[in-house]
Amino acid sequence: MKIFATYNIKGGVGKTATAVNLSYLAAMEGYRVLLWDLDPQAAASYLFRIKPRVKGGGKALIQGRRPVDDAIKGTDFDGLDLLPADFTYRNLDLMLDSAKQPARRLAGLLAPLKKEYDLVVLDCPPSISLLSESVLHAADLLLVPLIPTTLSVRTLDQLTDFVSGFNGHKPAVLAFFSMIDRRKRLHIQIAADLPAERSDFATAVIPAVSVIEQMSVHRAPVTAFAPRTMAARQYRELWHEARDRAGLTTG
Ligand SMILES: Nc1ncnc2c1ncn2[C@@H]1O[C@H](COP(=O)(O)OP(=O)(O)O)[C@@H](O)[C@H]1O
Ligand SMILES: [Mg+2]
Repeated sequence: MKIFATYNIKGGVGKTATAVNLSYLAAMEGYRVLLWDLDPQAAASYLFRIKPRVKGGGKALIQGRRPVDDAIKGTDFDGLDLLPADFTYRNLDLMLDSAKQPARRLAGLLAPLKKEYDLVVLDCPPSISLLSESVLHAADLLLVPLIPTTLSVRTLDQLTDFVSGFNGHKPAVLAFFSMIDRRKRLHIQIAADLPAERSDFATAVIPAVSVIEQMSVHRAPVTAFAPRTMAARQYRELWHEARDRAGLTTG
């Protein structure tokens, strides 16, 4: 079982859009996939038509008083299950803080699922905190969407510094450009230079297009309802790069 996390300290950069599409694409290739919506805003749960609420409360689940298995829901897609968000996740840091070994909590909760899933995707809320440490411990691969600005490059440097200085398990990082606007000269320039300079950059580039926004209307991944679009093609490319980096064997 491999664990991916979509991660960025910023919100609104395409973390959920990526988690949703990559989970769907993995399931379509025959992998058994669990998407865990860790954001109290519950966008991933909404997109898969699952009510955000964990039976017995998110707190009991995080603190290990309730098995993760109990809260898992099936989606409309074969091979793709979802662990819904819970509004109590707004206090996830406090919940982790009161758990034993908070930094290892997520990894510990997911360990019993090893036989059931080939891939777990963690859709993270925007934050850098105890949860981040727990995510870093658990994840094999961090997928980091970046909007191409000079500041985003700094964000990535800060993240890679944080990961390499991290005392414990270190995930691999795969950054990629998200919401790239081809009409903006700066976007094009940054997107052209950076991937060539760094090995932690994907060649896939996710365009800023309305068909991705329409996911919330269709309540489905764009790779499912508009598979022939450029956006879907780029998500497929990103999935293949992520799959190969993580060394996922065929599902
Ligand atoms: N490539 C894109 N092009 C256009 N809109 C996008 C794109 N990616 C995400 N969005 C939209 O932007 C908003 C934030 O995206 P989301 O994936 O939820 O970000 P995050 O999870 O990082 O907060 C959503 O309304 C989503 O539909
Ligand atoms: Mg999100």
